[in-house]
Amino acid sequence: MTTGLFIALEGGEGAGKSTQTERLRLHLESLGFEVVVTREPGGTPTAEKIRNILLDPSIHDMPDETEALLFAASRADHAENKIRPALARGAVVLCDRYIDSSVAYQGAARGLGIDRVRALSEWATRELHPDFTIYLDVPADASAERMEGTDRMEIQSADFHIRVQQAFRDIAAASTRPHIVVDATLSIEQVTSEILAALTPLLEKQ
Ligand code: TYD
Repeated sequence: MTTGLFIALEGGEGAGKSTQTERLRLHLESLGFEVVVTREPGGTPTAEKIRNILLDPSIHDMPDETEALLFAASRADHAENKIRPALARGAVVLCDRYIDSSVAYQGAARGLGIDRVRALSEWATRELHPDFTIYLDVPADASAERMEGTDRMEIQSADFHIRVQQAFRDIAAASTRPHIVVDATLSIEQVTSEILAALTPLLEKQ
């Protein structure tokens, strides 16, 4: 394997992205791939520091623009210092959230504009796009039920999370890049098997 495979997992809160990421990691490792599991915001020391600011529930006055820029700033560091080097080694990178999360949360739900927010992240990552995106689709009400945390993003209104969920559906429907939409209300095993069925042809090319 000379160039790796970059896979992003996207979806609203409580869609089961971490569970599926872990199951994919085990499966891919059993096939002999080097797997790098990472997440956004975060994934590098600098990006984790930015994450702490972004998710700090005691910050009540962060302008939406600051939020969008900080997500993009953490992504720039992550893409440069972790994802690109891993891909250059030939690893499979499993990334829990990436550019589409900014498009859904900041671009659509915050109303900053999907094109502008996407362009910001494309600039920040020098156009590093996933080879494949997995959208875990969960109804917004189910997402609210499965949401446990109390961070600055999770405590946004139910309406906000409904806009996020709809935005992910729109993004997936409009996407011209390789992707799959999986119904995250299916069993954990069914979701994994749908993902693996979609990934197998890509892995065979590696
Ligand atoms: P995290 O605890 O990682 O959430 P999850 O387990 O749902 O992935 O927190 C990340 C939060 O930040 C989550 O609410 C989604 C939000 N987010 C954005 O608003 N924009 C982004 O670009 C990214 C990557 C995440």
